[in-house]
Amino acid sequence: MIESTRSESVNSPLVQVKNLSVYFDAGRAGFWGQKRLKVHAVENLTLDIYPGETLGLVGESGSGKSTTGRAILRRVPASSGSIFFKGNDITNTNREQIRSLSRNMQLVFQDPYASLNPRLKIIDIVAEPLLVHGMVKNLKEAAEEVARLLALVGLPADAAARYPHAFSGGQRQRVGIARALALNPQFIVADEPVSALDVSIRAQIVNLLQDLQVEFGLAYLFIAHDLAVVRHISHRIAIMYAGKIVELADRDLIYDSPVHPYTKALLSAVPIPDPPVQRARKRITYTGEAPDPLNPPQGCRFQSRCPHADQRCRREEPPMTLRRKGQSAACWNR
Ligand SMILES: Nc1ncnc2c1ncn2[C@@H]1O[C@H](COP(=O)(O)OP(=O)(O)OP(=O)(O)O)[C@@H](O)[C@H]1O
Ligand code: SF4
Ligand SMILES: [Mg+2]
Repeated sequence: MIESTRSESVNSPLVQVKNLSVYFDAGRAGFWGQKRLKVHAVENLTLDIYPGETLGLVGESGSGKSTTGRAILRRVPASSGSIFFKGNDITNTNREQIRSLSRNMQLVFQDPYASLNPRLKIIDIVAEPLLVHGMVKNLKEAAEEVARLLALVGLPADAAARYPHAFSGGQRQRVGIARALALNPQFIVADEPVSALDVSIRAQIVNLLQDLQVEFGLAYLFIAHDLAVVRHISHRIAIMYAGKIVELADRDLIYDSPVHPYTKALLSAVPIPDPPVQRARKRITYTGEAPDPLNPPQGCRFQSRCPHADQRCRREEPPMTLRRKGQSAACWNR
């Protein structure tokens, strides 16, 4: 079971996802087609996130990372499976319950340029959730709270009176984080929070998220395209391919002894800060088409790109199995 990959599970999980599938309606097949098509965005996904931990979720574009995060936050409906928060089943909560859940679960977006309303001052952007949820009694209290939040994310007090266009990408992302923190959440989905930023400031935002995690005991689902970004912040890492988790392991096991061929390929793309080692290392690239999300193949989803694929891989889907303490993978090849 995937749950058993956490080596020191002292607490109960904050978030539990059990056999989650999310399908999107994609219309009918052909002009006269009767058959409805569906995008298999996430299928049969199981994972736990513990209080105070960062679970990195890594995979290529279209693998279902954002859909997973949004389904946990109840922003897209689950087609099947269950989502629990602090042991309570939140899979079928109504609008009002989702609103109250949002105090505990927040989203930090990928694009800090698109996610802040350009017509609102920073004080209005950060104060909005406080006012909507009745967390402050009046505008004076709101202003004090916004000043506290801006200081927390390393922005000067006078930032409150300015508009988003006055800030760089990194500063805007700090505003986005301040807004996400306003309701004092326990869990944040950070959906590629540094992908749109200059490489030079990515580390600053990752460090900020790490500091906030320590200070407030936050749990993160930290989504990224590649294994370089999540290395320092993650305690465990889940690798996603074509709607499925193919490997889930403690951070160091992913980097030191990956099991799944797809994890190995992702890892081979991570730069090594030692030029001779970097020059000597072989980049693994798998050719072949990615599976069609409208019609995924029987068997292993990685079969069209995997050099080890055999008859069994094309016939039967490999289940997640425990490979060593703290590491599970879904591959027939041992
Ligand atoms: N609202 C939607 N309607 C239809 N299809 C969708 C919708 N949202 C996502 N999809 C499809 O679901 C699949 C998974 O998308 P998702 O955005 O979760 O992937 P991702 O891993 O976050 O990709 P990226 O790295 O590009 O952000 C893709 O095939 C995508 O086209
Ligand atoms: S199950 Fe087969 S096709 Fe899939 S990753 Fe493993 S060896 Fe490759
Ligand atoms: Mg995404």
